[in-house]
Amino acid sequence: MLLSSREERPRGTVKKYIERISKMPLYGVLVNGELVSYAGSFIQLPQVWMIGGVYTHSNHRNKGYAALATSAVTEEALKHAETAALFVRSDNYPAIRVYEKNWLQENR
Ligand SMILES: CC(C)(COP(=O)(O)OP(=O)(O)OC[C@H]1O[C@@H](n2cnc3c(N)ncnc32)[C@H](O)[C@@H]1OP(=O)(O)O)[C@@H](O)C(=O)NCCC(=O)NCCS
Repeated sequence: MLLSSREERPRGTVKKYIERISKMPLYGVLVNGELVSYAGSFIQLPQVWMIGGVYTHSNHRNKGYAALATSAVTEEALKHAETAALFVRSDNYPAIRVYEKNWLQENR
């Protein structure tokens, strides 16, 4: 999960998270019917959609799935808003690579 360890998670966190993501525009990658990767948008304004909640299950990483999901939500964002934006930690190299690949694709 994206959140902290199961032990540290306050009661009801998963339920709240599911409620929250069920309201987000969300794109997922299914492998054999199982959701393995997703990317969403947690704020949608005419000026900008904020992309977030990008995650790939650890057994399925480095197969291009986050790039696919992020690219799909970015495409949706650019249909509705002037721009799409996101934050990423400067030491999250796999995520930075995903967003670079996405940027390169959008700017071909
Ligand atoms: C970031 C994350 C979503 C990437 O998912 P993924 O499905 O593996 O992503 P992709 O396969 O599309 O791309 C990963 C890229 O990072 C590269 N990569 C992996 N580890 C890397 C590292 N340590 N340094 C640099 N690049 C790295 C891969 O080679 C791949 O690039 P390539 O296609 O050019 O070879 C996944 O690692 C994850 O869920 N992390 C935890 C949650 C998270 O940090 N989310 C992002 C918050 S902003």
